[in-house]
Amino acid sequence: MQLQHNLFLLEHPLIQHKLSLIRRKDTSSILFRQLVNELSSLMVYELTRDMPTQLVSIETPLELMMAPVIDGKKLVFVSILRAGNGILDGALSVVPGARVGHIGLYRDPVTLRAVEYYFKMPSHMHERDVIIVDPMLATGNSAIAAIERVKSLNPRSIKFLCLLTCPEGVLAFQKAHPDVALYTAAIDRQLNDHGYILPGLGDAGDRIYGTK
Ligand code: URA
Repeated sequence: MQLQHNLFLLEHPLIQHKLSLIRRKDTSSILFRQLVNELSSLMVYELTRDMPTQLVSIETPLELMMAPVIDGKKLVFVSILRAGNGILDGALSVVPGARVGHIGLYRDPVTLRAVEYYFKMPSHMHERDVIIVDPMLATGNSAIAAIERVKSLNPRSIKFLCLLTCPEGVLAFQKAHPDVALYTAAIDRQLNDHGYILPGLGDAGDRIYGTK
């Protein structure tokens, strides 16, 4: 469902169901990771609805035909380290030919601002469509900084995919990058004083990698 210009809530019942499962505090890391994979595939399926196709000549066992194909290599998934990597496997299972970029940003614990420590993208970004992935859009600082860096390479388009966000994150994101479409499975109630989303699901990176 399109909530506003460039704000999309992915309400498919399978997406909502799996999101509820990963929110539960007693969901193990193994199950959490598996569900994030499944969620990511379903969400990327929705995001790629408008992917361009072109007709190519193929031969069926019976005759020649012109059939639509995508050019998967034109798509880049950009993962915001480290939690974004939890989304990559599911995303790549839907578009295996996609390229992958990484941005390393950590959240300064005092200012909550994003500090970059790694940036590696595929070549020829100006010919590619980008989907930046991070499970949680909380303060929006990492997403905003990541989009700024990716924009400097002039890709054809940029979308941002998160599993869940909050009103503060959406506002900050839209103020900084009104031209970038934001896709999420939920907009939760609020941020707490430590920059965590409520009710949320806790620390996505810790839950994916079992580091708590
Ligand atoms: N990052 C997380 O992993 N969880 C939150 O709730 C906010 C930011």
